Amino acid sequence: MIATATTLNHHLWQQQRESKHPIELSILLTRMGFVAKVLTREISRAALVGKLGLVGEKNATGDAQKKLDVFSNEVVVSAFSETGLVAAIASEELDQVQLVECGSEAQYILCTDPLDGSSNTESSAAVGTIFGIYRRTTGGRCGSEADALQPGNKLVAAGYVLYGTSTVLVYSTGDRVDGFTLDPTLGEFILSHENIRCPEDGKLYSANLSYYQDWGTRVQSFVDYLGDRTTDSSYSLRYSGALVADVHRCLLEGGVYFYPGTQDQQDGKLRLLYENAPLAFVVEQAGGKASTGCDRILDLPIESIHQRSPLVIGSLELVDLYESFVQKSKQTRYSSIDEEEAASMYVGGCN
Ligand code: AHG
Ligand code: MN
Ligand code: MN
Repeated sequence: MIATATTLNHHLWQQQRESKHPIELSILLTRMGFVAKVLTREISRAALVGKLGLVGEKNATGDAQKKLDVFSNEVVVSAFSETGLVAAIASEELDQVQLVECGSEAQYILCTDPLDGSSNTESSAAVGTIFGIYRRTTGGRCGSEADALQPGNKLVAAGYVLYGTSTVLVYSTGDRVDGFTLDPTLGEFILSHENIRCPEDGKLYSANLSYYQDWGTRVQSFVDYLGDRTTDSSYSLRYSGALVADVHRCLLEGGVYFYPGTQDQQDGKLRLLYENAPLAFVVEQAGGKASTGCDRILDLPIESIHQRSPLVIGSLELVDLYESFVQKSKQTRYSSIDEEEAASMYVGGCN
């Protein structure tokens, strides 16, 4: 089997030969493969080399940084800086856009969540890395913050790495979605999930239900519907605390992940530029859907790099179903929702 296995690098070369993407994206995605190998090693042995625990600082969005957050960010930034192709990097762990290279070759912008789900590291549960790649839009020799403030529909590549029971790298350059599993003995990513298609429907849902009381009544109605054992619906809850792991499961098996806004945090928790948009790009390319419940994630304007947005993502029909609960204009199918009550707690709803 291995003699004919397709490595990530070979696959990228094949796609490039078929003009699916330029050589620069092959180089950048190869680099992400290298980052994934380094982080696989360091995350798995973190407890043995003193890399667990907090550093005592908060990042730009107020999260307490872990040593592995900081380390992962350093690995990503140095690996991509060395390519000479990246003008600037926006990262969850950097307060501002970091300018890394000037000149005509540095035409790309990297947006990244270097370590997603880092609260899972102490318990050896799944974590991830999310990445989105844009082309520069501003003129001049050097990049600027404005280059990073592009909506997700301008992404030229995006993907994620899941560090779970195996390490899996999933990417799209806007043509298809492919997944690769790391063979640790070879040190190679091998094509294992070719041309991924997200099931149109599914039986899984993924959300932190401890926020139920803080969600609006329309979102609560959706959750009630999913959990209603008196009907034929037999949905199962799966929530890992790592967005990458939960979305990956929905992508492969069919399901829906949602992280709505609350009264206090109307835009929820997740960050648009380096969490929601790259994952939306991948899921849409695989035939799924991603929205805020009201608007398409990929069309949202990006005003600041750490901006948040609500997220509902996964199988087309389940995202549609969520929207039919929260969008007033689509509510004919669910007339049981008490509009007066909904209006009194409007969070997560839309017209
Ligand atoms: P990060 O570790 O990059 O800050 O992301 C954590 C995110 C996401 O991975 C996960 O789905 C969500 O936060 C979990 O938040 P709750 O603990 O509020 O459920
Ligand atoms: Mn994250
Ligand atoms: Mn993170």
